[in-house]
Amino acid sequence: MVTLEEVPDIVSKMTLEEKARIVVGVGMPGMFGNPPPRVPGAAGETHPIERLGIPSAVLADGPAGLRINPRRENDDKTYHATAFPVETMLASTWNREILEAVGRCLGEEVREYGVDILLAPAMNIHRNPLCGRNFEYYSEDPLLTGEMAAAFVKGVQSQGVGTCLKHFAANEQETNRHLIDTLVSERALREIYLKGFEIAVRKSKPWTVMSAYNKLNGQHCSQNEWLLTKVLRDDWGFEGFVMTDWFAKDDPVEMMRAGNDMIMPGKAYQIDPKRKDEVEAIINAVKEGRLDEEILIRNVKNILRILVNSPSFKGYKYSNKPDLDAHARVAYEAGVEGVILLKNNGALPVGRDARIALFGTGQIETIKGGTGSGDTHPRYVISILDGMRERRLRVDEELAEAHAKYLAEIRSTNEYRIEKTVFGEIFKPVPQDFLSEEEIGRFAERNDVAIILISRISGEGYDRRPEKGDFYLSDDEIRLIERVSKAFHGRGKKVVAILNIGSPIEVVSWRSMVDSILLTWQAGQETGRIVADIVSGERNPSGKLPTSFPMDYSDVPSWSFPGEPKDNPQRVAYDEGIYVGYRYYDTFGVEPAYEFGFGLSYTSFEYRNLKVETLDNRVVVSFEVVNAGSLPGKEVAQIYVRAPKGRLDKPFQELKEFHKTRLLNPGEKEKITVELGFNSLASYDGEKWVVEKGEYEVRVGSSSRDIRLIGRFTISQ
Ligand code: GLC
Repeated sequence: MVTLEEVPDIVSKMTLEEKARIVVGVGMPGMFGNPPPRVPGAAGETHPIERLGIPSAVLADGPAGLRINPRRENDDKTYHATAFPVETMLASTWNREILEAVGRCLGEEVREYGVDILLAPAMNIHRNPLCGRNFEYYSEDPLLTGEMAAAFVKGVQSQGVGTCLKHFAANEQETNRHLIDTLVSERALREIYLKGFEIAVRKSKPWTVMSAYNKLNGQHCSQNEWLLTKVLRDDWGFEGFVMTDWFAKDDPVEMMRAGNDMIMPGKAYQIDPKRKDEVEAIINAVKEGRLDEEILIRNVKNILRILVNSPSFKGYKYSNKPDLDAHARVAYEAGVEGVILLKNNGALPVGRDARIALFGTGQIETIKGGTGSGDTHPRYVISILDGMRERRLRVDEELAEAHAKYLAEIRSTNEYRIEKTVFGEIFKPVPQDFLSEEEIGRFAERNDVAIILISRISGEGYDRRPEKGDFYLSDDEIRLIERVSKAFHGRGKKVVAILNIGSPIEVVSWRSMVDSILLTWQAGQETGRIVADIVSGERNPSGKLPTSFPMDYSDVPSWSFPGEPKDNPQRVAYDEGIYVGYRYYDTFGVEPAYEFGFGLSYTSFEYRNLKVETLDNRVVVSFEVVNAGSLPGKEVAQIYVRAPKGRLDKPFQELKEFHKTRLLNPGEKEKITVELGFNSLASYDGEKWVVEKGEYEVRVGSSSRDIRLIGRFTISQ
């Protein structure tokens, strides 16, 4: 047992080799001939030093759930972990309490399965809707990102285990991620790409941060002293330790110097013979005077000061039995609050007795989350079809059977066979229009409402494409929507589209053909139950968009994505600067399909009695939200601020606070009071944060474009 007080003494007893081992992982646990892992499926392990009573520590992914092997050799027990909704869906709840509750559950599973640090939250910005890992990230807005991350970190760390803010920083694409050089202004960095990390560091004190693969203005993040020491520690007061992303490039000695305390997973030469043995490289650098041993000692202390708090260092006897049933209920509630109602011309809720014709193979091949290190291995996934059956909704079983038969056949062909990869199974999308007009007509005759599922999956290592079948619907998906809406509308019946996707798709070209659109993102293992209860009206949707849906991909401001030269991008210039998402659309008058912060409810809300009061260095905003409809519901009140024209160009408006109400019954109201410190209104002029004087506008609303109350205040000095 090593305690915090003993760290300096322990380190003073360490040999040079032992210090070098503390800052480098043991290599991919259980792979390439490395020793058997303490927890099979975990992503990394630190070196133990038995002589000094230092145990190893275990690190495992990911943002939507603990990713460890669900089964082990010669062991009849299982090691499933809960699959929570993906981070974009958690952010869609705009509910700090939900994020903290998910964090607590996930933290318990991390601890009870013998893991010390969870490699989450992932919190890069949705700069472009095609980034393959957007599902693992929260939002296009840094405040929402930072607040969600801080709540999640508090939840996880309340369970006695650590978290890891990743990927620090400006890692907003998968294309050429190990080498791409991200060129971005300091203002855009500070106000957009670093701001979420800053909020989370200051508010929740995460144990660790993971430096990103990419270069930042010419220097690998893992070797970027400005990023890892000046900004992270000197400016923000971070007191944990920094680890690299797995096999990040490039020079172990430069990493040590820059303030990247730990190199993961270690033994990079095992995947690339041109790479070095990091332990040896560090020992030699110290011996040859190329690396000051004081720097190595600094990094070793940063690591040990954190790890002494870990379950492994405390000799915690974990059970391998976290309460998965309790966590399933939290995953369900988080999903219910993350579903977003994008359109509703009376088709939803369908009611308990409606006869439902469910179209789309996603009813069976329901997508719980994305692929890659953010994948999960839950005990089960409730498909949308099974969720509706379990909730006793009247699903047309003959139509369901037709989908099952179609899938069984097409998945047995070579072209559409399910591909097994190191990161899990890849389901190639299959044509959706396999039913004839006559068959669809028959189902339209005997059912009351049609529900069409549109599915998308993406993941680590590759970005999506602005093509049909990805950002745009495929021809067969359009044909299905056309046929179903013709058959059902022709009989005076409604059509609902459900989007089981991980980041935005194009909707304008087809949304007029359906009466309602429900965005259920990728909701984890409880998906089917969540969707069934929202569709039936058992639960009222209260999610809001954490990211804009553009009218068309050509409207997206991050034109340079994924970088130059187009055929093999080496650098990507964030030349849109701070104008990301609604900051761009609202400032340059580009209409989105669905705006940031948008989401409907089965009830309606009114906003009243706005008061704006300036006290010494802050402004106090209070107002009331009333449930003016006929069903209980929750509202996400959003507070945007429009700054006066000053020296610096500014976005039209920026989100400065938000508050999700409790469940309000019809007629009930909630009084909301928030405080905005003047410093939260500052912009970065390239050297310092500046608060412009002049008249500010407080814009309170139900979305960034549905502003209900406007107030003003002045900052004089
Ligand atoms: C991956 C990911 C990172 C993950 C790590 C360990 O490459 O970039 O998010 O935590 O390696 O799996």
